[in-house]
Amino acid sequence: MSRILITSALPYINGIKHLGNLAGSMLPADVFARFQRAQGRDTLFICATDEHGTPAELAAAAAGQDVADYCAEQHQLQKDIALRFGLSFDWFGRSSSHQNRDLTQHFASVLEGQGLIEERVDQMIYSLADKRFLPDRYVEGTCPKCAFEKARGDQCDNCGSLLDPTDLINPYSTISGSRDIEVRDTRHLYLLQSKMQDRLRTWIDGRKDWPQLAKSIANKHLDEGLIDRGITRDLVWGVPVAKDGVARPGFENKVFYVWFDAPVEYIAATQEWADATGGDWKGWWRTDAGADDVRYVEFMGKDNVAFHTVSFPATLLGSGEPWKLVDQLKAFNWLNWYGGKFSTSNRRGVFMDAALDLLPPDLWRWYLIANAPEGSDTAFTWEQFQSAVNRDLADVLGNFVNRILKFNETKMDGTVPDGGEPGELEIALLASVQEKIAALTDNLEALEYRKAAQDLRALWVAGNEYLQVAAPWTAIKTDRDRAAVVVRTAINLVALYARLSAPFIPFSAAIIAEAVGEAGVTAWPSASDATLLDSLPRGRSVKAPEVLFRKIEDDQVAAWTEQFAGVEA
Ligand code: MF3
Ligand code: ZN
Repeated sequence: MSRILITSALPYINGIKHLGNLAGSMLPADVFARFQRAQGRDTLFICATDEHGTPAELAAAAAGQDVADYCAEQHQLQKDIALRFGLSFDWFGRSSSHQNRDLTQHFASVLEGQGLIEERVDQMIYSLADKRFLPDRYVEGTCPKCAFEKARGDQCDNCGSLLDPTDLINPYSTISGSRDIEVRDTRHLYLLQSKMQDRLRTWIDGRKDWPQLAKSIANKHLDEGLIDRGITRDLVWGVPVAKDGVARPGFENKVFYVWFDAPVEYIAATQEWADATGGDWKGWWRTDAGADDVRYVEFMGKDNVAFHTVSFPATLLGSGEPWKLVDQLKAFNWLNWYGGKFSTSNRRGVFMDAALDLLPPDLWRWYLIANAPEGSDTAFTWEQFQSAVNRDLADVLGNFVNRILKFNETKMDGTVPDGGEPGELEIALLASVQEKIAALTDNLEALEYRKAAQDLRALWVAGNEYLQVAAPWTAIKTDRDRAAVVVRTAINLVALYARLSAPFIPFSAAIIAEAVGEAGVTAWPSASDATLLDSLPRGRSVKAPEVLFRKIEDDQVAAWTEQFAGVEA
């Protein structure tokens, strides 16, 4: 297995995403992509904006914009911000692309050919005030499972249950707020997931190495019994229910449900990439075209797991065509803002654009990965963030790099020193570094982000401890060769840190690499390499960078705590 396909859950088009969205899919996917590329593996990292459905229509309406224009604008904004965060997508597509329209229609047609799609007359909520059907998020009400009062028509954000709008108790229109609602007949296509139960169970049972969170959510749905799902909606914005440009009779004013076309966009975005670059999309997605040797890893928040373990695989498996299915699925819990949720409307929490206005991307990247919501929901606090930046980045990594390079400039001659032989300290350091690199590599491979961040931090700490004991500032007074060994070893460590840190903090890693003449060197080190601490050419000039990480002050924390606390709803 040498090729790696990575997808991050597609962010909804409805506005700039918050740090929780970043932490729960796009960022860990990026760290993994960078790590795999550094290991020399052929890697394709795909993302896109999820542009259809009620979230897009509602947001465009709120912005007073035509929905197509709104999507084009927001796509560009999200793309720019992703770039500034260092998210290294090979392609950032749009689910409204013609490729996705065609492929979505293709899947509907082959699924129907397989007897897995059926037309049914449905009872849907119709708003007399708005003179329209109210699918999904156009209606809210009380969750029948947990009594949460603001459950959306498609899903309850409190308990995670997938819902039908007619399940809601006391429903009201989110367009007008009206409760003047009746249930009317309307014709829709259903995907017969109930017929897929056994095939999906067999497939999921075979996924031995899926992380726990994904597997337990998938099994919960299978244990409850899969239900047939409506895959069309009474909306105008979306993929038309048509074939070869001709609308399906009776479906002229309907589109596919956003959750039917959105995951298809993983493939369609790869087609967009191929159309733009001459790449071979089939080699990544079709097992009859070479995708058998691809390891496909998906990243998402926990509310997305059911769609990725049940609905999307049902589409792919049900088609009877040789599509590549997910090999590993990494799901995250919520990153909350203190005790509660991020909220756009209440201006609660930091969103991706505001984050970059405050501080450089690497500070956020480090904090969010080191505190990834893996085992349970976690809460952002400014104090924790300040400590991650000041203690890990500034005091440990930044201090090490600057201290040794400054010392080398002022007390030595500013080059990688020659002379001397490694002693016991260096031999012990090498063994410890090798062991930690092995752990870091294994944890990244296993998608264990918190552990990986701890391993990386332990490597930085090992450098500081070494310097403390080896004390080149003392050695230089009596034994220049000994000082040379220590400084050389430490400068090699700096270069090693640049490579090992690059997936996490790519911008700072690039500055560090440049400082020691290793710009562009990102190859992942091998833990068994005996020359790890002595591979830089001796005599190369090296130079301390400007301050790498500025510390966050207490008064900044106080100001930001207030600024981002939100207003009462
Ligand atoms: N837009 C969805 C969300 O933010 C995720 C869609 S993932 C996809 O929850 F695969 F369906 F596209
Ligand atoms: Zn609920």
